[in-house]
Amino acid sequence: MFWLILFSSVFVFGLAILAKTFASKTAKLDGRHVVITGGSSGIGKSMAIQAAQMGASVTIMARNKEKLDEARTEIQGHLKANMKVETISVDLSTSYDAVKSAMQQAEGKCGPVFMLVNSAGSSVSEAFVDLKPADFPKMMEMNYYSAVYATKAVVDSMVGQQAGRIVFLSSQAGQIGLFGFTAYSGAKFALRGMAEALQMELRPHNIFVTVSFPPDTDTPGFQKELQAGKPKETVLISETAGLFKADEVARTILTDSLHGKFMSYVGLDGWMLASITAGMSQASSLVEVITQVLLMGILRLVGLFYLSSFDKIVLRCKQEKDAGKQKSS
Ligand SMILES: NC(=O)c1ccc[n+]([C@@H]2O[C@H](COP(=O)([O-])OP(=O)(O)OC[C@H]3O[C@@H](n4cnc5c(N)ncnc54)[C@H](OP(=O)(O)O)[C@@H]3O)[C@@H](O)[C@H]2O)c1
Repeated sequence: MFWLILFSSVFVFGLAILAKTFASKTAKLDGRHVVITGGSSGIGKSMAIQAAQMGASVTIMARNKEKLDEARTEIQGHLKANMKVETISVDLSTSYDAVKSAMQQAEGKCGPVFMLVNSAGSSVSEAFVDLKPADFPKMMEMNYYSAVYATKAVVDSMVGQQAGRIVFLSSQAGQIGLFGFTAYSGAKFALRGMAEALQMELRPHNIFVTVSFPPDTDTPGFQKELQAGKPKETVLISETAGLFKADEVARTILTDSLHGKFMSYVGLDGWMLASITAGMSQASSLVEVITQVLLMGILRLVGLFYLSSFDKIVLRCKQEKDAGKQKSS
């Protein structure tokens, strides 16, 4: 009885302290400037359209000029009065100076950046033995350094404003290592580590960092990855979580970022993965803390069932390949 009372008191006291920490930090986009890397396609383009609908001026950055122009025309139809959409063609993955100059150009046209969304990225899905050594630095450049450069190029301006939002698009493959994603997962896990450290540095400046962990989402990038041919194991494992619409994922990320939420996820699997992998990451709400504290143990058990079913898929595929080899020899 004594221990129960002690535990309950500590729990309630802890929650009271945390409640203070979660003081309201909700922001609006009206009249503000949002920069979206990778805003010419997929989740980034959906976010650009929704940010325009919320009253923001939007700058989208990507490499292909034609795709940027097409996206600009689409976004223009959603802008509110006096708001603008700008496009900048830049490769974000190779040179910090090029990204810095793009960001200065964006601020010159649409004013200080309030929100930066790092959506530019791409994946390669092959078994480790089949990947080329060059695939690993390429994944880091496309997914990690592109986001580091864009963030570095904008952070001084946000600190000057003492306000801002920075979003990183990781992936569920940035929470759990899956067959076929050794190169991609490395880069997406790296984003999370950087984001955790950055959040601690920027919070005193009223700047909130969000890491999004999208599930499989129906975008041109996702379709391209399918056409390039994923290992059967990766396809079968990914199928278990379903396929989501870019608009739904984009809406969740924007809402979570505006609420200053650190981890952004979609769907039941997304919630489960975020809870299991919360680790020492920032908590964003009391409800989140309570569910994590109460459910972490049981979710770990559920997670182990998932892992065991994934291992079975990998083993079955190996047996099929071995049988195929025996037939042909
Ligand atoms: N779709 C999914 O299932 C899924 C799941 C989890 C996480 N994600 C992540 O979510 C983000 C968006 O994915 P998506 O499927 O919406 O992608 P997408 O449709 O392929 O769009 C990618 C965007 O990034 C731009 N981009 C790529 N490399 C770039 C570079 N080096 N410099 C500048 N721009 C670059 C592309 O334009 P250009 O090619 O013209 O440069 C395009 O605008 C990515 O980071 C992805 O890893 C996606």
